[in-house]
Amino acid sequence: MGGLAIDGGRPVRDVSQKPWPAWPIFGEPEKSNLLEVFESGHWFYGKKVKEFEEKFATFQGANFGVSCTNGTAALEMALYACGIKAGDEVIIPPYSFIATASAVLRMNGVPIFADINLETCNLDPEDTERKITERTRAIIPVHVGGLPADMDAFKLIAQKYRLKLIEDACHSWGSQWKGKGTGALGDCGAFSFQMSKNITSGEGGILLTEQEEIADIARSFSNCGRSKTGQWYQHVLAGTNLRLTELQAAILLGQLSRLKEQTEHREKTARILDEALKNVPGIETIPSDERVTRRSYHLYIFRFIGEDWKISRDRFVELLNAEGIPASAGYPPLYRNPLFQEKSLTAVCSLSCPRYGRTINYTNVFCSQAEKASWQTVWLPHWLLLAPVEEMADVVEAIRKIRAFF
Ligand SMILES: Cc1ncc(COP(=O)(O)O)c(C=O)c1O
Repeated sequence: MGGLAIDGGRPVRDVSQKPWPAWPIFGEPEKSNLLEVFESGHWFYGKKVKEFEEKFATFQGANFGVSCTNGTAALEMALYACGIKAGDEVIIPPYSFIATASAVLRMNGVPIFADINLETCNLDPEDTERKITERTRAIIPVHVGGLPADMDAFKLIAQKYRLKLIEDACHSWGSQWKGKGTGALGDCGAFSFQMSKNITSGEGGILLTEQEEIADIARSFSNCGRSKTGQWYQHVLAGTNLRLTELQAAILLGQLSRLKEQTEHREKTARILDEALKNVPGIETIPSDERVTRRSYHLYIFRFIGEDWKISRDRFVELLNAEGIPASAGYPPLYRNPLFQEKSLTAVCSLSCPRYGRTINYTNVFCSQAEKASWQTVWLPHWLLLAPVEEMADVVEAIRKIRAFF
């Protein structure tokens, strides 16, 4: 076994000799689609965008798809289309990317943090219900790493309190809850196609919905406020330009053609890791849930219980990286960002809005489970899971090797 790689020992995986799969992946479908668009002379919002919107919506089991420039824009579009207005509270988890919160602020809403379930890292329905006030208008569960949040519970809460349910599905292309795709489970869902994502056009996004009215408002918002039936220079709402290009759609169509097969492979390799890691003391894997019928595994997440190991999670991540396993620490709670901790936030329109009529102090927010997750989680990237099944043994060996030293 030798010493730890960080101390000069031989790494479990010498990535210069045995690299992990490269990401992004592209091939003939992307190349021929792109050439077709180049030669068509039509590079703007046309046939390929429409084809991708329809195919991706169908893949997730939704009726409508409205593409846009990125996942952040898709969330903003979703909030707008769901009628979120100045002073409206929107419940979100703190364990997410900043866009989940910043989209609410940018659409003049007030983000209210509810805690997560530590086992899944997803928004906790019980704490969500506790955070509901007469100002609450929407909930945004995030399907963290591609694991669907408990959508049965969130649907019941949304119905009971007449709230909009917006899925942050920016990690969950292909994920399914009881056979139905994410993004088609609530009122609408937002996806990202940024370069680190499981299907990508460098940047890009889409909103999916079952409801024509939401799709129409989102379309209008993303296309300069134009209406379905109006003239080109007629604008019915204060929209913006969030349009995807034909070139991006050409790439995404190629990416989509591999998504099912890649997702199945990631599920297979993730199962191998689950089996092997559940026997390592001080490692907690995410328990399986039979309601999750497909999982994108944008991230393979496990928790590192530092007290068991006598080293910190951050040190563990460094040691793993040195052994040739690309791992990273998870999110810090969103409310810890200077955006929420410093006085400048009082200048954010929605929080000083007379319509809100309240003051909110994020320095008092504390979500104990999100705090724990922020110092326990370890993420492995989705492209590692695309390696041949037998190569998962390197991940397990590296973790066991480090364990033997502590
Ligand atoms: C959970 C989550 N929501 C939203 C976004 C925003 O997507 P984009 O980067 O495409 O704007 C991301 C991107 O990483 C994300 O991870």
